[in-house]
Amino acid sequence: MQDVHISTKPAVMDGLKGVVFTESKLSFIDGEKGILKYVGIPIQELAQNSTYEETAFLLLNARLPTSAELATLDYELKSRRAIPAGLLEVIKLFPKGLHPMHGLRTAVSSLAMFDPRADDVTEAGKLEKAYNLIAQLPTLIAAMYRTQHDLEVVAPRGDLTHAANFLFMLNATEPSPEQTRLFDIALILQADHGMNASTFTGIATASTLSDLYSAITSAIGSLKGPLHGGANEAVMDMLAEIGSPENAESYINGKLERKEKIMGVGHAVYKFFDPRSRVLKEYAAIAAEKHGKSLEYATLERVEEVVIARLSSRGIYPNVDFYSGVVLSDLGVPKSYFTPIFALSRIAGWTASIIEYTRHNSILRPTANYIGPDDAHWLPLEQR
Ligand SMILES: CC(C)(COP(=O)(O)OP(=O)(O)OC[C@H]1O[C@@H](n2cnc3c(N)ncnc32)[C@H](O)[C@@H]1OP(=O)(O)O)[C@@H](O)C(=O)NCCC(=O)NCCS
Repeated sequence: MQDVHISTKPAVMDGLKGVVFTESKLSFIDGEKGILKYVGIPIQELAQNSTYEETAFLLLNARLPTSAELATLDYELKSRRAIPAGLLEVIKLFPKGLHPMHGLRTAVSSLAMFDPRADDVTEAGKLEKAYNLIAQLPTLIAAMYRTQHDLEVVAPRGDLTHAANFLFMLNATEPSPEQTRLFDIALILQADHGMNASTFTGIATASTLSDLYSAITSAIGSLKGPLHGGANEAVMDMLAEIGSPENAESYINGKLERKEKIMGVGHAVYKFFDPRSRVLKEYAAIAAEKHGKSLEYATLERVEEVVIARLSSRGIYPNVDFYSGVVLSDLGVPKSYFTPIFALSRIAGWTASIIEYTRHNSILRPTANYIGPDDAHWLPLEQR
């Protein structure tokens, strides 16, 4: 048996890094300078002034809405918030103690069976399904959380904003305006982020002209991995292990000596501060002060100092997940629901990117350099 000689083969682009496969008007990222813009608008401006609903319109249409368009979108989303009764029964049957991302993936996949027009992959059909998904993900997640904890499911309310309605369905109490605003900001910050792994996965599925529910189910599966969506949960575990600021330095040094990764830092694209982590840091500080979480916050700040001292020369800085866990737990979101919340936010970017890509669709089909045996033959079992 002879191995194939590979020197003449095209270079392998590990992790597809630097490979450009499409054009997009949605996210602009400058990883060296730490800049993120949606349709040209800096993320800081959106965090300060926009709402999740408006940001979703911006991504789906590549422009800001007029007030009439925003009102129409608001109506569309509010009128779609309820999930099918049959699906609620399915959620109630989920085994207790599941990882909510398994539950969310299954629930989103099931949604297709309750939508008689699930397979409509025209642009108008996909937009309709995008509205369904943006409106219903919060209801699915809150219903799953409450049934998992033997709590009564709270029905969505049509008089609350997207952010307030989710917190209401989760905690069964109406959030304060400050809590609503904070959650809205957290949702805006993660609504889109270029060709990240889950967006790419969703696009790859949709590029076969499969339906939007299938594409989003794939994207959720991709987001579940700890190198992508699960890092803020891991940051909270790390915080608990460190305990207090004075232990931070030895903890980080120990991790680096053992060549272990520190969660919530480093990024495939940002080689400087992730701008979303800067916005969240500001709000995490306010929340910590207000709700007596100063020890957690002070520990994170100390970890940040040590990480910058030890790793910034290698382009490794805190990412969006570094402070988001503290912010979300302050809003009553349990740790295991951080990644579903990421999905709840990213659904706008996923659906917008899929609609944008499939407008000029080409099935995604890269190649691999074959490095296996060149001249092999089947052998009977006794000769192997
Ligand atoms: C996000 C992430 C996967 C990006 O990876 P990447 O840019 O492809 O970089 P790699 O994983 O290939 O790592 C490159 C080098 O930096 C180091 N590095 C990257 N992230 C690190 C981290 N969080 N802690 C310590 N070292 C890190 C690696 O150990 C590697 O070192 P080496 O060259 O000596 O082997 C990576 O930074 C990571 O795993 N971070 C922690 C998980 C996380 O917070 N994810 C959320 C992302 S928003």
